[in-house]
Parts: sequence; structure tokens; C-alpha cells
Amino acid sequence: MDNGQYVKPTVAIIITGMCFMIYFGVFKNIIELKWVTTLIKLKWDTTLTKLKLDTETFHSCTGLNCTNFFKSYFWKKTYNSLVFLGDSCMYRLFLTIMRKKGFCKIKKQVNRCSLISYLGKKRCSKWTKPSSTEGPYSYGLTHPFCTDCSGCNSALYNCGEIKIEYISVEYARDVEIQSTTSNTTQEAVSLYFNSNFTNVCVVNSGFHDMVLPALTDRLYVKNVHFYVQHLVQTCQNVIWISTTAVRGDKGFPQNNRRIQLWNRLIKEMLRNKFPKVGFMDFFSISNSTKAHRDNVHLTAAVYKLIANFFT
Ligand SMILES: *[C@@H]1O[C@H](CO)[C@@H](O)[C@H](O)[C@H]1NC(C)=O
Ligand SMILES: *[C@@H]1O[C@H](CO)[C@@H](O)[C@H](O)[C@H]1NC(C)=O
Ligand SMILES: *[C@@H]1O[C@H](CO)[C@@H](O)[C@H](O)[C@H]1NC(C)=O
Ligand SMILES: *[C@@H]1O[C@H](CO)[C@@H](O)[C@H](O)[C@H]1NC(C)=O
Repeated sequence: MDNGQYVKPTVAIIITGMCFMIYFGVFKNIIELKWVTTLIKLKWDTTLTKLKLDTETFHSCTGLNCTNFFKSYFWKKTYNSLVFLGDSCMYRLFLTIMRKKGFCKIKKQVNRCSLISYLGKKRCSKWTKPSSTEGPYSYGLTHPFCTDCSGCNSALYNCGEIKIEYISVEYARDVEIQSTTSNTTQEAVSLYFNSNFTNVCVVNSGFHDMVLPALTDRLYVKNVHFYVQHLVQTCQNVIWISTTAVRGDKGFPQNNRRIQLWNRLIKEMLRNKFPKVGFMDFFSISNSTKAHRDNVHLTAAVYKLIANFFT
């Protein structure tokens, strides 16, 4: 069969299917088409002899409908490493999961100023201050190589078949960790993962980003894009957790209107740019004063409920 004959039937299939699809974009030899939640990528090589069809379904869930999300996402797939990345809210969820797991052996744990050694990196010679649209903003700003979050102790546990880990990353982009091989915490974390492991990264950032006065909605999305782009290089399964609701106490920089906007923008961005990344939305189940123990942190009962989705 010559090349011309090979191309023709493939093109015909696309044309008959076209009425169900929304043309989405074209760049670098890839035409993107959308069909419901499926992003279809058509890739041709520069000599136009072959077309490759890639389809990826975007997986997302909301509230109690997330009960079986994790199980179905990993249906017939196994993983060796489950990593939680985030601020003190993610840390509390991680602690709840570890309590539920029971018999796990701690392998390593560090305080807020030793994350760089946890990640196996060396300090760069000179720590550079952040720009106005990246962290850190408080303790980490006056204490180079330390995290803003206190008590967010990164830790790795061995739980038999799998390793479970928490890594303190409060922002979508920050320069708390500056190593000889990376300028941001997000890059350092991506370099830390061993891509030979089948791993799952459960990740969120939002509450701390909202503290940065210069960070516009658009720049937040840009930072999350940067973060996820680095994560997917070494983490095979990335699941983004929406930012949960706040109680609405006076005097805090976070508010539910903006949280909902950011969640919507991130979901859209992931769907369009990283359809393999999962999205779990816990805004509605955290949207009440009864679900909170302070402005941002949820009650033990709510963390237990969410922990059940991952165990
Ligand atoms: C949960 O799933 C059911 C059935 O698919 C659907 O009708 C319902 O709207 C979903 N609820 C939420 C909060 O997404
Ligand atoms: C870090 O930033 C410096 C200065 O902007 C740049 O020269 C260097 O290439 C960056 N390093 C990495 C690993 O991105
Ligand atoms: C991953 O596996 C390859 C091949 O087995 C090996 O050469 C490489 O060193 C491994 N990478 C890491 C980071 O362990
Ligand atoms: C959150 O709670 C407020 C106040 O009770 C309500 O008006 C709003 O509809 C809720 N939003 C969601 C997404 O549940």
C-alpha cells in the first residue's frame, strides 16, 4: 500500500466523526478535537504519511460521588507509591489516612527547614527572593530553604506493598527550595520522584497562593500549569484536589467566591491541557461552618470522610 492510500481512509473517518466534535486547536503537528469530555489528538509526522489517534478521557468527580473515583481510576492498575503534596490541609488528610492504615513504618521525616535534604538535593550557593507572584510569603521569606507552613513535616512511610508519603508544597509556584539543579520547590519535587516507580500524586495548592496580593487569577492558573507540567514528567498518575471551602471568617485573604472561580479555572485548564490528570472536587462537601474547625481546616470527621476515598 502506498502512503496516499494509507492516509485517505483515516481522513475519511475523521470527517464522518466531525459533526460530533469541537475543533479545539492545532499546534506542533497535533490537531486537537473535543468530543464530550474526551480530548482527541491527531498527530501527523512532517511528511504527512501517518496519522496517529490518541484519545484521553478526563476523569473528575464531585463530593460523595468521589467514593469510587480512586478505585475506578486505578481499575486493574497497581501502584507502589502514593504521595500527597500540599499545605497543612493536605497534611491533615495524610495524617488521617496514616491513622486509618495503622501498620506503617516511618522511613524518614523532616521539619520545615530540612525539606531540601529530604528531597536529596543540595542548597544552591545563593538563595534568591521570590517574585511577587510566587511563594514564599512569610516564614520562608525570612528563613531561606524553610517552608511557610509550620508543622507540615514531610514524611515517608512504608506500608507493606506501597509507600505513602507527604511532601510539604504550599504553592503552585515557590522558591522555598532552591537547589543546585532546580530554582523552585515544584521542580525539586519533580526531580525527586523516581519515574521507575508507578506512583500516584494527590495534589492541591490554593490557600497560600491566595495570600499573594499580586497573584491574579490568570497567573494562578499559569503557576498551576507550571507545577503540573513538572509533576507529570515523573509522576504517572496525578490527581488534583480542588481547594476546599473556607468558613468565611473575617480578616482572611481567602474567600469562597474566589475559591470556586479558581477551582473552575483549574478544572478547565487540566481538562484542556492535561486530560490524564484526575480532578476531585470537595468544595461542596466542605461548604458549611459545621465542616470547619477554623477558617480553612476541616473537622476530623470531614477528613475521615475524604480519607475513605483514598483507602
Ligand atoms: C452524583 O452522581 C449521580 C449519578 O451519576 C448524579 O445524578 C449526581 O448529580 C452526582 N452528584 C454530584 C454532586 O455530582
Ligand atoms: C535557575 O535560574 C537561573 C537564573 O535565572 C538560570 O540561569 C538557571 O538556568 C535556572 N536553573 C534551572 C535548573 O532552571
Ligand atoms: C530506572 O531504571 C533504569 C533501567 O532499569 C535505570 O538505568 C535507572 O538508573 C533507574 N532510575 C532511577 C532514578 O532509579
Ligand atoms: C455554599 O454555601 C452557600 C451558603 O450556604 C450556598 O449559598 C452555596 O450555594 C453553596 N455552594 C455550593 C457549591 O455548594
